Amino acid sequence: MSVDRPLDLAPACVSDYRELARTRLPRQLFDYVDGGAYDERTLRANVDDFGSVLLRQRILRDVEGVDTRTKVAGRELAMPVVLAPVGLGGMFARRGEVQAARAAEAAGVVFCESTVSICSIEEVKAATSAPFWYQLYVMRDRGYAKSLLERAAAAGCDVLILTVDLPVVGARYRDTRNGMTDPIGTIEKLEKARDLVTHPLWLRDVAVGGRPLTFGNLEAAVPGAKSPAAFKQWVDAQFDPSVTFRDLEWVRANWNGKIILKGILDPEDALEAASVGCDGIVVSNHGGRQLDSVLSSIRALSPIVDAVAGRIEVLMDGGVRSGLDVAKAVASGASAVLIGRAWVYGLAARGEAGVGHVLSILKKELEVAMALTGARTIADLGRSSLVANGHVR
Ligand code: FNR
Repeated sequence: MSVDRPLDLAPACVSDYRELARTRLPRQLFDYVDGGAYDERTLRANVDDFGSVLLRQRILRDVEGVDTRTKVAGRELAMPVVLAPVGLGGMFARRGEVQAARAAEAAGVVFCESTVSICSIEEVKAATSAPFWYQLYVMRDRGYAKSLLERAAAAGCDVLILTVDLPVVGARYRDTRNGMTDPIGTIEKLEKARDLVTHPLWLRDVAVGGRPLTFGNLEAAVPGAKSPAAFKQWVDAQFDPSVTFRDLEWVRANWNGKIILKGILDPEDALEAASVGCDGIVVSNHGGRQLDSVLSSIRALSPIVDAVAGRIEVLMDGGVRSGLDVAKAVASGASAVLIGRAWVYGLAARGEAGVGHVLSILKKELEVAMALTGARTIADLGRSSLVANGHVR
């Protein structure tokens, strides 16, 4: 009997959930979530560069009752973690955004609804009590964008995440190979259908039980659309490459809550964001899904934190797969991290319970990282919690 293989009876960490999601989802959907742009160098660097940030172990400090609570964008959260906006959530599990938002609420963290969600703002609102965040792209159809902002405000969303790293769309080779981007022939269509029907758990839960054919927030924009492809065409035509910092005035005029710009990777852009009066930024490369060969988010973070020098709140996302990563990002100056793939893997594997378990894993890992670096509170995490250039400070 082999003794080097675990029994795999229970998922222990986010990468276990990734493997469960790989089994459960049709290949085309798993690759859509898991993949990145071009050669996926930045996607890998987002994860790998967390590995080269070292925590500074400390001893004999009173770390009884380690407390992960913190304030993010004015609200107290159970830990510095936000569920990132992810499109098509309802394709990964039945009414996926609702399940994720409920899990976030139960865990005391925030869910952010993507514009290109399957479940509408109103459906998420009806299923939850805590306010959630809303994510928008500045679209060509400003009238429709305005109506989305009004709907989000009416649903009680208090923070707008404005995604600014998508003036054009980066190529994702896995999606092209899986027939997700260009028109395909009959044989290829049959192969795609075979991929779907050979995943019976997904088929029963999502395709049959989940009504995932419309984008809840965009039904009025594309009346009569009955397939994700019909919505995709509209969405693709809406990305506006002419948007500049000046367009933020339009957003400010139409949104009373906080505005956080997502997709900043450069200190000069961060300074400009601070000077035009937004409330915060997310240091992000869209999870390695846009321009490949750019800086990983964790490497981009510290210089940006230093540049803005506390003028606005700095969050980060990209590559966070454990509570240790959360500790490293916060120690580097982020007020919180957004997690994207981590929550989707949990959702795809086990629905709401899976997202809840991923969040509890992250929290426990963060608690251990704090205790062993001598941090009792989130405020105790700082640059001195990290090993700098191979040397302790
Ligand atoms: C995303 N992301 C994203 N961002 C956004 O502003 N609007 C969106 O609709 C989407 N959609 C989306 C779909 C999928 C499948 C993924 C994986 C990501 C980017 C997301 O908000 C976040 O920036 C990254 O996911 C963070 O990287 P990690 O945590 O996935 O490594």
